[in-house]
Amino acid sequence: MSIAAGLLQAQTARFEQVDPLLPAAAAPPEGDVLTAALADGERVAGVVARGRYETGTAPTLWSARDVVELHPLVGASGGAGMDALLRELRRMLDRGAPGADSSCVVTWPSRDVEASEPLLAHGFAPLSTLAVRVTAAEPEPAGDLAVRLATSRDLAVALELELAELAYSAMVGAAIDRPNARRIKRAGLTRHLEQGDPVWLGERDGVVVGLAHGRLVDAGPGAPAGARLRAGCWGYVNCVSVRPDARGTGVGRRLMAVAHRELARLGATSTFLYYNPPNPLASVFWPRQGYRPLWTIWEVRPAGALR
Ligand SMILES: CC(C)(COP(=O)(O)OP(=O)(O)OC[C@H]1O[C@@H](n2cnc3c(N)ncnc32)[C@H](O)[C@@H]1OP(=O)(O)O)[C@@H](O)C(=O)NCCC(=O)NCCS
Repeated sequence: MSIAAGLLQAQTARFEQVDPLLPAAAAPPEGDVLTAALADGERVAGVVARGRYETGTAPTLWSARDVVELHPLVGASGGAGMDALLRELRRMLDRGAPGADSSCVVTWPSRDVEASEPLLAHGFAPLSTLAVRVTAAEPEPAGDLAVRLATSRDLAVALELELAELAYSAMVGAAIDRPNARRIKRAGLTRHLEQGDPVWLGERDGVVVGLAHGRLVDAGPGAPAGARLRAGCWGYVNCVSVRPDARGTGVGRRLMAVAHRELARLGATSTFLYYNPPNPLASVFWPRQGYRPLWTIWEVRPAGALR
């Protein structure tokens, strides 16, 4: 067995040990290979994939434009393996780091806390988490807030709510409120409404006060989501936003109760979403709705700030 295959197998075994909801460790993509030897002679490896998002594209609203993403293959070596790889990554960046609008990214199982210490020591922040919710059955939603599906006629009000969420998230996490955000969001929302992805609107006295936007994602073998989620039909909660003057009054809770029941009805057996741990509303709200961290997305911005 090659070193990479052995490390991948050991990494899958470690993932199974730290969190039963993790899928098997995914083979890294194409990129520059890093290797390192640990004090006990064990070898670890990683692949560094560099990506660039062009101006005006949706990912620029949640990511730096130049991304240096490390895919660690540390097997069962824990924190020591992660530390050794991050030292190698620093050496690689010494030979050339991207500019100001850049980041280093490592996505790692949230419960593998042995990796947290080296990530923090090298300057990474836990900017986002992919959180999951697994329940046996969805109860009938409680509450009397009217919730209905948006149509393309609701584009303007839905867009304002999505932009309000972006503005808030940009203060507390990975999101970036770029000058062309309105145009990018409008294009995305138009497409989602046209293709029939559910966007739920909560109304109080006939006024829209909140939005939840979701869709179904297949995490079957070979699907991109399969690297992060166990095989199955997942409900993805893309954006939830409540008008500032209506926050904390049960709108978000009621919207999510409806969204969870409807996503289950459409075939989702579990749901997932991303939130930012530094977001003081989302970090309370999502665990209250039954979500818990599966993956943590660690970032250093700009990439050259890696220690
Ligand atoms: C996060 C957000 C969608 C929650 O919606 P909401 O309508 O304000 O939340 P609710 O009133 O339904 O509150 C539900 C739970 O969240 C918690 N919560 C909500 N607002 C809170 C606040 N201001 N302080 C502390 N806890 C709060 C409460 O624990 C509440 O639980 P409980 O009433 O069941 O005990 C909303 O605050 C929002 O739009 N925030 C800005 C944008 C954002 O962060 N979106 C999410 C990005 S992932």
